[in-house]
Amino acid sequence: MTTIALIGAGRGLGAAVARRFGAEGFDLALISRSIERVETLAAELRDEGLTARGYAANVREPQTIVSALDEATQDLGPIEVLAYAPLPQKEFLRPVLETTVEDLRAAVEFSIYGPVTAVHHVLQGMRYLGRGSILFVNGSSAARPSAGVAGTSIAFAGESAYARMLHDTLTTESIHVGQLIIPSAITPGHPTHDPGVLAEKLWTMHASRGEFRVFAEPMAGV
Ligand SMILES: NC(=O)c1ccc[n+]([C@@H]2O[C@H](COP(=O)([O-])OP(=O)(O)OC[C@H]3O[C@@H](n4cnc5c(N)ncnc54)[C@H](OP(=O)(O)O)[C@@H]3O)[C@@H](O)[C@H]2O)c1
Repeated sequence: MTTIALIGAGRGLGAAVARRFGAEGFDLALISRSIERVETLAAELRDEGLTARGYAANVREPQTIVSALDEATQDLGPIEVLAYAPLPQKEFLRPVLETTVEDLRAAVEFSIYGPVTAVHHVLQGMRYLGRGSILFVNGSSAARPSAGVAGTSIAFAGESAYARMLHDTLTTESIHVGQLIIPSAITPGHPTHDPGVLAEKLWTMHASRGEFRVFAEPMAGV
């Protein structure tokens, strides 16, 4: 069986995506900064009959991403799906006139260097498998910059450009690259923003491929 590596695997969207892909037989590599949190979630998923393990990595420290992905591949097998969905920290979410170079450095590490590191590390395995999906998850500022959240707006623009170029380049290799835009807060029970509904969209992006960019709900003017 192959593996989905979930970078940014928390109790919200991360857990829902793990359950959705786990139901299809994927092994689950749950990655976040807190080893305690991902191990606790992995244990819950194992109790539900899924194969899951937790790994620590901070996306702002590239070597930790490499180590986590290496360990996951050794433990669970080849990574067929990479989902990049860490929740941005509040420090990136500052208004444009207050945003400093240091704020931007953190946002760029988080949203550009992190994805580039992870993608480089999983691509060879996907090519060996002959298939794969790389799924990015972002909020509305990736589709329309917002002066209230300058760090993510600027860094998400770079992440979006990188992801779209990957999509266009890898399409001939049966590796699908997609971006899910979630325009407002993830809310349990909401018809479009419930974690399970969003996880279903990510599953469809992997299984059916299709467009590069998918919206959880339409965004006016985009
Ligand atoms: N929550 C929303 O309302 C909302 C709205 C729009 C879009 N989104 C998108 O949805 C995704 C997150 O979904 P969610 O909010 O439900 O979160 P979640 O899956 O519950 O958790 C995300 C996890 O990201 C991890 N994380 C944060 N910073 C990290 C870092 N530097 N390195 C590694 N892991 C890190 C955190 O774990 P640790 O603290 O252990 O690192 C957290 O548990 C993100 O792509 C976000 O852009 C969320």
